Amino acid sequence: LHRAIAIDGPAASGKSTLSRLLSQRLNLIMVNSGAMYRAVTWKVLQRGIDPNDREAVVQALREMELECGVADLVSTIKVDGIDPGDELRSESVNSHVSAVSAVPEVRECLVSLQRDYLKLGDVVMEGRDIGSVVFPETPFKIYMDADPSVREARREVVGEVDSVAARDRADSGRATAPLKIAEGACVLDTSGHTIESGVEAAIEILRG
Ligand code: CDP
Repeated sequence: LHRAIAIDGPAASGKSTLSRLLSQRLNLIMVNSGAMYRAVTWKVLQRGIDPNDREAVVQALREMELECGVADLVSTIKVDGIDPGDELRSESVNSHVSAVSAVPEVRECLVSLQRDYLKLGDVVMEGRDIGSVVFPETPFKIYMDADPSVREARREVVGEVDSVAARDRADSGRATAPLKIAEGACVLDTSGHTIESGVEAAIEILRG
């Protein structure tokens, strides 16, 4: 039976960096669940569908083919045969992904695809509800956080147009799968950590 490490937290809290390093150190498949929500959002926008029209979003979801895979221990996603690549982090996807991922049918579909990754091997999966919904049984749960100013600055450094604060408000305030600290999760605040000290702290947490 394969095991999962769940890493949740708000935007730019350091989830991807930690997941990547844990994946390399512990030889785990790294799954970015946000990329899956972004891929659905990208397709909805590409088709000119209003991301706030739930019925239209559900209809579009039924019509798209999502292929989730792994390459070199990193999750991959294709929508109707296309890897959206950098477009997953475009300004328009950033502004609409929270609404699209609040649609229950979207979550149901993607949570099931996320659980399927365990058939392939041990995983480290990052997102918003991995410890609470996707793998509630795992004993390995980390909730990452950092000061809002630190998180905004991290996005600016990579030149991404993203309102981190607005997305956090939307993610925390929505009725479906609001961002919260999962039961049993250990909180890791990375504001004062370097990347390396953050990884060491995470490994300490996972050792229990
Ligand atoms: O990397 P970043 O923190 O910017 O975000 P992400 O992990 O790529 O997720 C993008 C958006 O997808 C989030 O703001 C959530 O609205 C949604 N999401 C979600 O609802 N549930 C997840 N497990 C992962 C992402």
